[in-house]
Amino acid sequence: MRTFVLALLLAAPALAQTELRGHGGPVRALAITSDGREAVTGSFDSSSIVWVLERGIARAVLRAHDGAVNAVGVTANGFVTAGEDGRLAVWNRADLTRPQSFDRIHAGPIAALSLSPDGKSVASASWDSSLAVTQLAGGTPRRYEGHQGNVNGVGFLPDGVTLVSAGYDATLRIWPGSGAARIIKLEVPLNALSIAADGRMAAGGADGSLFLLDAQGNNLRKIEAAESPLIALAFSPDSRFLAAASPRGSVTLFEAASGKALFTLNGPGLPVWSLAFSPDGKVLFTGGTDRLVRRWNAVNGDHLGPIIIEKPAEIFVSDGSRGADVFKACAVCHTLTPDAENRAGPSLYGIIGRRIGTAPGYIYSTGFVAHDIVWNKDTIAKLFELGPSIYTPGTKMPEQRVGSEEDRTALVEFIEKAARLR
Ligand code: HEC
Repeated sequence: MRTFVLALLLAAPALAQTELRGHGGPVRALAITSDGREAVTGSFDSSSIVWVLERGIARAVLRAHDGAVNAVGVTANGFVTAGEDGRLAVWNRADLTRPQSFDRIHAGPIAALSLSPDGKSVASASWDSSLAVTQLAGGTPRRYEGHQGNVNGVGFLPDGVTLVSAGYDATLRIWPGSGAARIIKLEVPLNALSIAADGRMAAGGADGSLFLLDAQGNNLRKIEAAESPLIALAFSPDSRFLAAASPRGSVTLFEAASGKALFTLNGPGLPVWSLAFSPDGKVLFTGGTDRLVRRWNAVNGDHLGPIIIEKPAEIFVSDGSRGADVFKACAVCHTLTPDAENRAGPSLYGIIGRRIGTAPGYIYSTGFVAHDIVWNKDTIAKLFELGPSIYTPGTKMPEQRVGSEEDRTALVEFIEKAARLR
């Protein structure tokens, strides 16, 4: 029964309808850059955001995927994102307005990805029951077949060649560079996997069990970690601790060697969908259902506060149109109704016919207000055809584009309707 519930919960399309409510969405995936200064998140709202952690602001919105972004990673010169659309997007810091490559790697949703230790390739796990390893530099992905059903987790062993995968078929598979995979039957469908820097493995089961194995895939230990399925796992950078999250709300920190539970996070923003440690291991980041990235003291579990300081927003009412769908990514920062406040960006209430930089009570950047623009459907469409940094240089609005003309037209029609003065 529990298994069934999770299967439903993980079915992103169903979730999109019940939980998105048109306003951003849960933070499904989370990764921290190796200098600890930025986070990249992936959301059910189909966008990814690069955050400057110290300032708690969005640096760029990465928009390419058609559907939830289920997995993200940090590369030497940018980011990778993967989603429900089976595509892998590679983003270069030099231009975050469009992916450097955007290839359909899988016939089904990608549930997880993992960068190789040398940072040159990325492994993906998919609900098409396969794994793939794609070189960031390009080339045909190498495919690994064998799982019977959804593959939910993948990671590299420290040798950089051996892959480990966790599947809903209740197996953990260890794939050497060549030859057949070793299959470890765990008898519980697996939802999550994390590989420590020292090669230690942890897999999370649909019944809340946590499986710990050593770097050779031996000395299996099973721990009853949660009452509900484990949905995200993360080892600390020194391989000593493991954080495990379940969608019913708990995040528990375990000692990896003994499997002993040390403490459970207690605070707002639970349940969480994603976990990541800071590079120094002192901070645990969680990505939650409340769309926020929160920070926790990784030594004692104290809540340190959200990174993205934003009021839990009231629900923006989607009219079900394509334009409303496109607007979801804007709603993180913009409201549309007269009684709603400014967010990271100004309220767009009455935007059509309004001069640039004139929303009451909002502090614009000086570069932005210096432009001579009146917002109408054409100018707003232009803003997202060219991107804010080109159309309105000097702006603090994170760089983003809406690539398709059809989407831009739908977007501005939706804004015109939803933000009409009343
Ligand atoms: C991560 C936050 C963020 C997101 C996402 C975002 N914006 Fe903005 N937007 C801003 C900020 C900040 C400003 C103010 C810019 C300044 O002062 O430089 C702004 C300004 C604007 C303005 C001009 C408002 C005025 O009063 O002059 C429009 C129009 C606009 N955004 C539309 C959109 C649309 C449409 C989307 C989605 C496609 C979007 N924005 C996504 C942050 C965001």
